[in-house]
Formats: sequence, C-alpha cells, structure tokens
Amino acid sequence: MKHLTDPVFPEGFLWGASSSAWQVEGATLEGGRTESIIDINSRTKKPFTDNSIASDHYHHFREDVALMKECGFTSYRFGISWPRIIPAADRKVNPEGIKFYSDLIDELLAAGITPIPTIYHYDMPVWVDQKYDGWFDRGMIEEFEYYCKVLFENFGDRVKYWLAINEQNMQIVYGKWLGLNKPGHDWDKEKWQMNHVMNLCHAKAVTLCHEMVPGGKIGPVPGYVPIYPKSARPEDQIAAMNAEELTEKIWMDTYVFGEYSTFVRNYWKENGITVDIQPGDMELIKSAKIDFIGLNCYRSDVGKAPDPSYVQEISLNKTGNKGELIYTNWPGEYALDRNIYVETTDWDWHIDAVSMRYSLRYLWDHYHVPLIITEAGFGAHEDLDENGEIHDDYRIDYLRDYAYNVGLAIMDGVEVFGFNPWSFTDLLSTGNGMAKRYGLVFVNRTDDDLRDLKRYKKDSFYWYQRLIKSGGTDWGRDMSEWRDFTRVSQIASDIKAKEKK
Ligand code: BG6
Repeated sequence: MKHLTDPVFPEGFLWGASSSAWQVEGATLEGGRTESIIDINSRTKKPFTDNSIASDHYHHFREDVALMKECGFTSYRFGISWPRIIPAADRKVNPEGIKFYSDLIDELLAAGITPIPTIYHYDMPVWVDQKYDGWFDRGMIEEFEYYCKVLFENFGDRVKYWLAINEQNMQIVYGKWLGLNKPGHDWDKEKWQMNHVMNLCHAKAVTLCHEMVPGGKIGPVPGYVPIYPKSARPEDQIAAMNAEELTEKIWMDTYVFGEYSTFVRNYWKENGITVDIQPGDMELIKSAKIDFIGLNCYRSDVGKAPDPSYVQEISLNKTGNKGELIYTNWPGEYALDRNIYVETTDWDWHIDAVSMRYSLRYLWDHYHVPLIITEAGFGAHEDLDENGEIHDDYRIDYLRDYAYNVGLAIMDGVEVFGFNPWSFTDLLSTGNGMAKRYGLVFVNRTDDDLRDLKRYKKDSFYWYQRLIKSGGTDWGRDMSEWRDFTRVSQIASDIKAKEKK
C-alpha cells in the first residue's frame, strides 16, 4: 500500500527505550544481590565484559530517569534481576532488591513514564542454576513461578505491562554462546527439552500475571530477524522458510497457538530428539493467552539453499571489524548470506529499516496480537570528542528510519502501541561490552577504564526528544522516499554501479 502522508501514531503511543538489568545496573554484589550465570559468563569469556559495574545504573537510576523525562519518554523497558530479588536457596525475598525496583518504578511513574519490566533477561541466580541444572530440569517451573509471584505481589499494583522471557528463541539458537550448555548434555538434542521447560515457565508467568495483576498485560519478547529468500529460486524460498521456522516461528506458534507445530514435531522425530511432554503441559501452554508481543528487531537476514558438501555453524563478528561474520551453512536445512541491498554495521548486522515494517506485518498477519517494539538499535564504536560530545548521525539515521517504518506498518493496519529502542544509556553489549555502544546517552567509561561514569547526551538524544515532543511527526527531514520506494532503488542502483566497476 502506498501511503500519501507521513504516518500518524495512535494517541497514547509509548515512546521510550530499553535495557536489561545485567547490562546496565552493575552493583552485582551490592544490596544483597548474589551472582547470576551471565555474570560468570561475562567475566570468564572474552570478549564479554565484566558486568560488576556496567553503567552503574544502580547508583545513577534517579539521574537516568530524570534524563528520560527530559527526553520526553512515556515508557521504559528494563530488566529485573532475579538474584537481586531472591539471592539464595532459602528463597528469602531480599528487601533491598524489592526496594531498588520499587523506587525505580515510583521514580518512573512520577516522571510520567510507564514501566515495562522484563522478568527474565539471562540473569539466572547461580543457586538456581546449581539446584536445577539450569533450564534442563523441570524443577525450574515451580522456582520460576515463585519468582514471578514475588514480582507480581510487590510491583503488580503499579506495573501493568510485563515481559516474560527475553529472546527465548535466541537463547536456544545461540545457547552455547550464552553459556546455557552444560557438561554432560548433548546440546543440539537437549536444548529442545530446555525450550519446553522455558515454555512452561513462560505459561506460568502469563497465567499468574492475569490472576494476580489487576488489568495486567503480559507478552513474550522474541528476537525477530526476518529471513528474505536470496532469490526467486524455489529452493531458496524453502530454505528461507526453514531458517525462519528453526530460528523464530516455532516459538511464536507455541506462544500464540499453544501447540508445537507439525513442522517442529517432524523435525524432532527425524533428528532423534525426544522432549518430555507430561500430561497437562500442553493444556497449560495453550491456556496461557498472551496479550501482546514485545518485538526485538534489529536487522534481517538472507536465506538460501545450503551447500550439501560442508557444515558451517554461524561464527559471529566479535571484534567490530566489518567482514568477520561467517554465515551458517546447514546441509538439508538452510544457509544464510549477506544481503547486498543493504548496508551493515561494523559487526556485520544488516541495517534494514524495512525489516521492521516487514516483521510487524508478518507477525500481525500470522498472529493478530498487538505489538510493541522492545528493542532495535545501532551498535557503534564511540568516544567523546574534544568538546565532550558524540555526533552519532548514523544512529539518528537508523532510529529515524526504523521508527518511520513502524509508522508505515501502523498505516498498513498493524496494531503497534510503542517504540522502545535499545538502549537509553550506553550499556554492555552481550558480545562486546562497552566497545559496542547503543545508547542515546553516553556513559563515560570504557571496557578497561571506569573513568567517572558521567552521562553525556548524544546528538541522537536531542533528535529523539524532538520526535517524541512532536508526537512522531518531526522527522527532521523529508521521509517520503520510504513511502514511494525511491530509497530502496537508490541503494540497489548504488550496488549495481559498484558491481559494474
Ligand atoms: C538482544 C538482547 O538480542 O540484542 C540484548 O536482548 C542485546 O540483551 C541486544 O544487548 C544487542 O546485542 P549485542 O550482542 O550487540 O549486545
């Protein structure tokens, strides 16, 4: 559909940003908090970065919320750290942990900002991990339910929007890299058991939220990377569909329809995978109706028919030097590839604002559930210039194009109620610490030097402030190229010119 005007965002649309506890808080052993599995992972696996200080949000949260208010935010997505709430196996609730999040929530509400917490964003307490062998054990279901109960009891009076488990799909797809595998487990087979336990935990969170939080709404947070077929070759189409199924669709189908699709059941059968599905499990999953989908969408990928002669697991770009990413080649299933029609970040992530519109349309068409953007963002190497400023035009371009494409999806008919890009302040990237920054606000530290942790507003902060103030109308430039496709053909013709040379 060609739209004749700039998008119109609905009344009450939530404009904000997002973060997670372990990437921003620091104070990992303060206020009664104990260690989480991602603390250990971040310390022991270079280039992960020690998160004991992170952006020191724990000590700066009032200042950070004041900056959000100055930017005009009406929402903020953040993570709650499980080991801050329940630090030990005696399951005693930590009053200091409750106080920290309670104060944060009150501060946000006083600033007119809707709090949107994530219940689980990779920081499982070490004691839980040890007790249950991580997500492999069904004991996790009751433990997670207990944690959710504590959150809903303490914050449900003030928090109405909840996010359950961050990027369950990515945890299963990239679980080895995130430290979820354990000695003695056959990851490629047993990860599906872990996934089933996570689905049951997710279902418990949804059910409890509806029971305990008056007017409470809850949704999953898939990491969504649409897969375009490389060509019109029919085999590329099927390979792209396989990639989409095995990296994201399986999860969405389970959340929304409460079933494991015939695709995944056949996949398990053919690969000798058994999942312990006990009586009552599927009834629980089916009965847990989500209210919305939190969409994390940074980029797209390209799928093509795999080369049957070799196996290649994806090897992520860990340095930020373009061209290091090695794409998956999985015989019989799919291969991924570079999309020459879009640019990439220094970490080889495709910069593709249309992928946002595409994902929103795809998810709305398939699942008919309202959506909120819970992540999208531009990771970059940055430091203050001689004037103490950051001129992040690339991030402004990225956020402007992505937000505009959210608007186009709304005009296409998709129900979207908020935009919360990653991230407000700089925080630790999962793969690259402070070397890969995402914030609208610079935090003055590097991976090796803590400096003074002072906050500096980047140019993107001011650009976003203007956009929010205008209710999503002041884009700072003519955006019609996104509506009439001239932007896309421009990039394609640049590439054709490059190819001719
Ligand atoms: C999302 C995660 O997948 O991507 C965040 O929910 C993460 O935790 C973000 O930080 C960006 O990825 P990265 O690896 O650049 O930090």
